[in-house]
Amino acid sequence: MAAVKNTAHTFTLNTGDKIPAIGLGTWQSKPHEVRAAVEAALRAGYRHIDTAAAYGNESEVGAGIKASGVPRDQVWLTTKLNVTDHKRVAAALDDSLAKLGVEYVDLYLMHWPASVIPGQKAVYDDWNFVNTWSEMQKLVGTGKVRNIGVSNFAIKNLEILLNDPSCKTTPAVNQIELHPCNPSPKLVAYATDKGIYSTGYSCLGSTNSPLYTNATLKALAEAKGKTVQQVLLVWGIQKGWSVIPKSVTPARIQANFDIDGWGLTEEEVKTIDGVTDRFKVCNDSWLPVKVFFGDDE
Ligand SMILES: NC(=O)c1ccc[n+]([C@@H]2O[C@H](COP(=O)([O-])OP(=O)(O)OC[C@H]3O[C@@H](n4cnc5c(N)ncnc54)[C@H](OP(=O)(O)O)[C@@H]3O)[C@@H](O)[C@H]2O)c1
Repeated sequence: MAAVKNTAHTFTLNTGDKIPAIGLGTWQSKPHEVRAAVEAALRAGYRHIDTAAAYGNESEVGAGIKASGVPRDQVWLTTKLNVTDHKRVAAALDDSLAKLGVEYVDLYLMHWPASVIPGQKAVYDDWNFVNTWSEMQKLVGTGKVRNIGVSNFAIKNLEILLNDPSCKTTPAVNQIELHPCNPSPKLVAYATDKGIYSTGYSCLGSTNSPLYTNATLKALAEAKGKTVQQVLLVWGIQKGWSVIPKSVTPARIQANFDIDGWGLTEEEVKTIDGVTDRFKVCNDSWLPVKVFFGDDE
């Protein structure tokens, strides 16, 4: 197993671009914490940072990238279009680029398949995520985005998008919640079949994660002499998706990247696949439309 180098591993997207298997997440990373976290991660060797307009921290993420001294072209940078910006896609991207202080992002995701009217808990009646995707498709030719993708798309909504005649570019990525208690095998298989690569968010189970006390995961991690977090990350990568663990704690940022030189056996992957508890970190109750339909398992 000495040759296993999870931290240098990449997955190839339908555009031919290679997304690093592990990146740093930044949701709920407070503005005064996230610059240092991004800098620490890049200094530790991370080459993939995940942010979003909705996280309100793009300026500090950009500052962290600059402070790290790692050249821009060596960092995979993902940001996301906010739900209230669906009618101003090009302008919203420009806002993100200005805050991040970069000329382009490697991946621009539609954060949620919901076109929300700013200031209201309602969606437009003359606009939907298919219209938004049409606008996103135009971004590729501008040089401001290398890849476009979606997030939080269930099979039902992927089908609506892919079957629409206006959809000329298949999303490169669908970023979705993926951990042993929300494994979504049908959704991942559907996306893979369509050439859409999955990235797993809340891969550690998010804030106050119940996964850390899961008996199966604890026993397996202990037997391997690894932390539950390291086991969760390697499980995700071996399942075939990239993982974007969030931390603002330097020792954890380092430990989450200490995943080289070992792997999980097929049997161990199966054991984790066999965890039957279920929970979802991100639901759709805060949105004016339903986006999850239980069609993922
Ligand atoms: N597309 C979407 O809609 C969406 C939704 C959710 C998340 N995401 C993305 O996915 C990223 C990851 O998901 P997430 O932020 O929900 O949660 P996560 O990465 O699953 O878990 C983060 C939590 O785990 C803690 N943690 C991290 N490493 C640890 C370790 N080694 N030991 C103990 N605790 C540890 C962190 O604490 P500290 O920070 O205090 O160290 C934080 O509380 C997000 O940051 C975001 O970039 C995207």
